[in-house]
Order: sequence, then C-alpha cells, then structure tokens
Amino acid sequence: MNKNSINSKRRQYIIGASLLGGVGLGLGAIPFITSWLPSARAKAMGAPVDLDITKIEEGQKVTLDWRSQPVFVIKRSNAALETLKTLSEKLRDPNSNEPQQPMYAKNITRSIKQEILVVIGICTHLGCVPLYKPKAGEIDQSWVGGFFCPCHGSRFDLAGRVFKGVPAPCNLVIPPHKYNGNILRIGEE
Ligand code: FES
Repeated sequence: MNKNSINSKRRQYIIGASLLGGVGLGLGAIPFITSWLPSARAKAMGAPVDLDITKIEEGQKVTLDWRSQPVFVIKRSNAALETLKTLSEKLRDPNSNEPQQPMYAKNITRSIKQEILVVIGICTHLGCVPLYKPKAGEIDQSWVGGFFCPCHGSRFDLAGRVFKGVPAPCNLVIPPHKYNGNILRIGEE
C-alpha cells in the first residue's frame, strides 16, 4: 500500500469531534461533543485538541483529528476493563514495555483515567485505520472486543495492545495527553 492510499484511507475515517453542526446533526444518536478546533495553520503546527469527556457515553468512540492523525477517545465499561486483565498470554507486549506510550500510560489500561482510552487510530503494521469492534464475538468466536485492522487482519485489545500472531509488530500508540478536570487535552503533558 503506498503512502497516498494510506493517507487517503486515514482521511476517510477522520471525524473532527466536533463543532461542525452538520456532523452533530447528522449523527443524531451520538451526543454533541464540545471540542476546541484550532485553525488549520495551528493544527499543522501540532496545536493541542481539547475534548469534554463527560459528553462521551459508555462504549462510545469519538475520533479527533490531531496532527493529521485520527485519535480515538473511548469510554470503556467496567466489563471491558475486566477483560483487559485476562489477555496477557495472548498479547505480544502485555505490559507495554515497547515505547508506544508515555510513562503515565504504561499500565494495564494504558491510560490516565482507567475508563478513558486515548489512542492514535493507526495500525502499527502499515498504517491503516483499525475498526473499533467493542463487542465479544463481533469478528469471530474468540473475539473479546478491541480493534481490528481489515487490511491484513491485525488485532488489538481495548487498550490498543497487539495480539500475538498478527502482522502488526507493536501496540497502538498512545499520544501525549493530560486532563484539566473533565477536559482532555491531546498534544500536551
Ligand atoms: S495495516 Fe493493519 S494489518 Fe496491515
């Protein structure tokens, strides 16, 4: 897959979470997410992006555009968090020893707030955007919920940790982020 097609694929999936009324209205079932969208020039410079996490429903994925990359913000259920504890044997890097995350996200949930996952939605194999498939059995009988990359079949759990035996070599990347109360800021620590 060449770089252009990868970038094109990424763009298809990027939904700025969103001050864009059209997006908020068009997806009626999805609650309106308040987010600060910097100017195009500021974005190109890597300006941080903010999101009010109280607007995210359990199980929901919001996709933000940060440095031209899709960043998934997902609110995980308690059941999903419990699942993370059962997968170590099946994962390539269950303890996040590879430098795919900031130190504050080197834990079993790979997050600051355990229920909120903030992860760059780009497969570590060749850069496709993985699909969010949170329900058990969505892909096959062994599926416990996570991210599935349709390009070559890589699988990641709900913390973005890669399973053994798939093409992707390492876990999904956790971007730098921090919280100010309920406001998540991506791009600053
Ligand atoms: S790009 Fe995801 S499996 Fe190849």
